[in-house]
Amino acid sequence: MVSSPVEQIKEKIDIVDFIRSYITLLPAGKNFKANCPFHKEKTPSFIVSPERQTWHCFGACSEGGDIFKFLMKYENLEFHEALKILAEKVGIELKSVGFQEQKQFGVLYEINELAKNFFIRQLTESVNQKALNYLKERGLKKETIEEFEIGLAPNGYDNLTVYLIKSGYNIKDIERAGLNFKTEKGGYIDRFRNRIMFPLYNHFGKTIGFSGRILPEFDVGETGKYVNSPETLIFNKSKVLYGFHKTKNSIRELKSAVLVEGQMDFLLCWQDGVKNAAATSGTALTHDHLKVLRRQTDALTFCFDNDEAGLKAAERSIDLAHNEDFSVKVLVINKYKDPAEAVQKEPGLIGKLVGEAKQAMEFYFYRYNLINNQQSTENNKINELKNNLRLVLAKIKILTSAVEKFHWLKKLSEITGVKEDILVEEMAQLKSVNEQRSITAAQFKSFNLSINQPLNKRELICQRILALASTQKNLQNALADYFDYLPDNYLKIARSLIDGIKLEDKRLADLLFQISLKFSLGAENKEPEMIIGEFNELLHRLKEEYFKEKKEKLAREIKISEAEGSEEKTASILKEFDEISKLMHNSKN
Ligand code: UTP
Ligand code: MN
Repeated sequence: MVSSPVEQIKEKIDIVDFIRSYITLLPAGKNFKANCPFHKEKTPSFIVSPERQTWHCFGACSEGGDIFKFLMKYENLEFHEALKILAEKVGIELKSVGFQEQKQFGVLYEINELAKNFFIRQLTESVNQKALNYLKERGLKKETIEEFEIGLAPNGYDNLTVYLIKSGYNIKDIERAGLNFKTEKGGYIDRFRNRIMFPLYNHFGKTIGFSGRILPEFDVGETGKYVNSPETLIFNKSKVLYGFHKTKNSIRELKSAVLVEGQMDFLLCWQDGVKNAAATSGTALTHDHLKVLRRQTDALTFCFDNDEAGLKAAERSIDLAHNEDFSVKVLVINKYKDPAEAVQKEPGLIGKLVGEAKQAMEFYFYRYNLINNQQSTENNKINELKNNLRLVLAKIKILTSAVEKFHWLKKLSEITGVKEDILVEEMAQLKSVNEQRSITAAQFKSFNLSINQPLNKRELICQRILALASTQKNLQNALADYFDYLPDNYLKIARSLIDGIKLEDKRLADLLFQISLKFSLGAENKEPEMIIGEFNELLHRLKEEYFKEKKEKLAREIKISEAEGSEEKTASILKEFDEISKLMHNSKN
C-alpha cells in the first residue's frame, strides 16, 4: 500500500535533525532538550523525542507535536504550506498522490502572481501618468516602487478579470483569490479599481493578496481610502506585516523592529534608511503579528500616527506586547501627522528619533500627565492623579518581569511623590490582565491528561516515581508495596509497568510518555545507588503525602459532623484520625 505524503515525509525526515536545523539541541538521556523557541525562557523545557519523533514544551506553551506542527509554529504556516515545503525537501510530488487541496492553493498563488504583474504593467506602461505622478508627489522613488512591486488597478469594471480569464483561469478561482466579486445581477466586478496596488506577501515573498489605495482624483468618499483583499485560503490578514519579508533579516541583526501603521509609512521609512520596520497595515497589532516578530526580536519600537487614534493604537499594542514580554519603546513624532510625512518633510528624522525613542512606560507617564503635572491639594487634582495613577499602575501590572515592575514602581514613586508601598498596594487591588492569559494558556492544552495542569504534591511525587520506574526495572518491585498510595491514573500506569503490559488507554500512555519526557529534562548521569536512594525517599514521601491528605480530609469531616452535632459520627472520625496519626508516626521511626 502506498503511504500518504505525510507518512512518507515522516519516514524520510528525522525530527531531531530537522529541529536541530532551527535551534540548538542538547542531549537529555535518550532525548534532546532546548530552550523553547516558542516562548522566552532561561532553562530548557522543550524536549524532542527521537523514539516517538515528537517534540513537547513543558514550559509556558505546553504544546507539542510532530515535524509539521513544529514547522507550522516556527514559520507561522498553515498545514498545507508546511506540507508543501517538506514535500519539496524530500522530493515527493504532491500532485501525484492526488492532493486536490494542494492544487487549489497553487491556483490562488498563481492568480495573485499574475495579477501583481498585471498591475505593475498598468502602472509603468500606462499612458496616463497620473498614478506615477501621485507616487512621486508622495515622495516614493522609482527604486522603491520597483522593489515593492507597486502597481495600478486601472479604471473599468473587469480589466483584471478579463485578463485572468484569457490567461486560462476559472472565474470561480479568481473569485476565491479575492480579486473580484459577484454582483447582484450575477456578473463579476474587479475588486480593485482606480487604485495604487501594494502587493502583500507571505514571509517567503510570495504574493498572497493586495492592499489598494484609491487615487486621489477618484476619492469621492464613497469607498474606503484603502481596500484590502478578503481573507482567502492563502491570505490571513492578522498575520501579515507589510514589508516584513524584506526586513526580517535586518530586524534580527538590529535586534529590534520599528512598527508603523501604513504601507506609505513603511515605504518611506525604508527609503529613508530605516530597514528594520514593518507595517500592521490598518489592523491593530495582533497576537499573530507578535508571534511572527518574536522569532526575530523581542524589542519593538512603535511609531504610529500622531493623532488620538494613533495613540490609542499604540496603547493597545504596547499592552499586548508587554503582556508577551516584549521590551517596548514608543516614538512620538510631534511635528508631523505620520512617519510618511515626517520622512518627506525632514529626511533622516525618523532614524534619529528611533534612536531616542522613549520606554513605553515613560510614554505612559507623559500620556497620563504624571510627568510635568503640578501637584496640588485641590480635590479635582487629587482625583485626577488617582485615576491616572491607576491607569499607569494597571500598565505596570501587565509587565511579566517582576524586576521591571519594581523598576517602574520606583520611578513612578519618584515622579509622583507617592510612596512605593502605597503604589504596590494600589496596584494589587487592580484587576490583573495576566489572569485572563492563564485561561487562554489552559485552553491550548493539547492533551486531555496534561501533566502541566496544576498538580498537588502527591501527584508530583508520583510522576517522579513513575519516570524513574519506567526506565529502571530494578525499582519496580519496591513500587508494588506502595500501590495503595497512588491515585487512580498513576496506579494504572504503575501496574502496567510492573506487569509489562501495554497501556490500553491512550490517554494514560500519553501521560506516561509526557512524564518520562518531562523528567528527562533534568536527567543527569547518576550512580545507581543514588537513584535507588532517591526512589526510596520518594516512596516514603508519597506515603506521607497520602496520609496528610487523608488527615486533612478527616479534619474537614470532623468540623462538619461537629456542626451537625452528631457525636457518634465525630467520635468515629476522630478515631480514624488518631489511627492515621499513629501510622504516620510509626512510619517515621
Ligand atoms: P491612515 O488613514 O493613516 O492612512 O491608515 P495613511 O497610511 O496615512 O494613508 P495615506 O498616507 O493617505 O495613503 C493607516 C493604514 O490603515 C489602513 C491602510 O493600511 C493604511 O496604510 N487603512 C486605512 C485601511 O485598511 N483602510 C482604510 O480605509 C484606511
Ligand atoms: Mn497615516
